[in-house]
Amino acid sequence: MARNKIALIGAGQIGGTLAHLAGLKELGDIVLFDIMEGIPQGKALDIAESAPVDGFDAKLTGTQGYEAIEGADVVIVTAGVPRKPGMSRDDLLGINLKVMEQVGAGIRKYAPNAFVICITNPLDAMVWALQKASGLPKTMVVGMAGVLDSARFRHFLAEEFDVSVEDVTAFVLGGHGDTMVPLPRYSTVAGIPLPDLIKMGWTSQERLDKIIQRTRDGGAEIVNLLKTGSAFYAPAASAIAMADAYLKDKKRVMPCAAYLNGQYGLKDIYVGVPVVIGAKGVERVVEIHLDRDERVMFDKSVASVQGLIEACIKIAPDLG
Ligand code: APR
Repeated sequence: MARNKIALIGAGQIGGTLAHLAGLKELGDIVLFDIMEGIPQGKALDIAESAPVDGFDAKLTGTQGYEAIEGADVVIVTAGVPRKPGMSRDDLLGINLKVMEQVGAGIRKYAPNAFVICITNPLDAMVWALQKASGLPKTMVVGMAGVLDSARFRHFLAEEFDVSVEDVTAFVLGGHGDTMVPLPRYSTVAGIPLPDLIKMGWTSQERLDKIIQRTRDGGAEIVNLLKTGSAFYAPAASAIAMADAYLKDKKRVMPCAAYLNGQYGLKDIYVGVPVVIGAKGVERVVEIHLDRDERVMFDKSVASVQGLIEACIKIAPDLG
């Protein structure tokens, strides 16, 4: 059987890490695409030269031409520019929207059967634009945010309780960023929900509130430390887990930015919700019951995503 093909659009910090992880995990042959000449070629060659040491077989290619992604099974998109000092939200939206239009056209032409994972920020708006620009089925285009946000939450909780990260599950909803909605009553240590762990004296409400805030600010914390860029190891690992769930038809339940068509009372919007990922892409949106406070937080998060989408439509009316 031929190997799967993974196309990575954007060969920057996350793109390079994605290629390395996809190689190490033998997910398939890897194509790195970037507009910067030499960068995808250099990273592809460097990773290919690590393969004999680590013992994985994968063909790695770097390219400036979309034809190289032809027939890809999975496409992961990190192409775009980060927000720089002095750049307004709309400046960033305008630039990255153009990038999504180009990338969407490339995918439409060369990889129309792929499962597409978008990472470019502002995530919930960019994945929406990428789906429109590519014209791929909505179940085959998702955004990576919730897996990363919940991984950050799990890491902080595992540290707090001094237990293995493997035994901590965490549940987040909503848009990526300050308005994301962590759900403590669905987050557990080996099945014991966080509110019970507070009652058991493992932590306090106050400490948990601080952890939740740190999770919300997780991206900014890394930017402040790195100063020259944003997080890339954990975002790449998160997208690879989603690609793996698709390629192996694992039917994993993961929080992703998914297209909603009536679920949670919302339509024509991408927002972070738990979904089942398998060979058909997003196979099911899991609709959980939200209590009043959770619904208020979720609605606030949805409103901020809607604001971004409206700003996109103003800039590029044909996407609307
Ligand atoms: N087509 C293809 N690649 C592009 C395009 C384009 N039109 N425009 C920019 N790129 C490339 C850049 O050349 C760069 O190599 O996208 C890459 C982005 O890489 P980095 O700047 O290193 O950014 P990275 O840290 O990988 O993050 C990528 O993910 O988490 C988000 O906010 C983050 O939007 C950002 C994205």
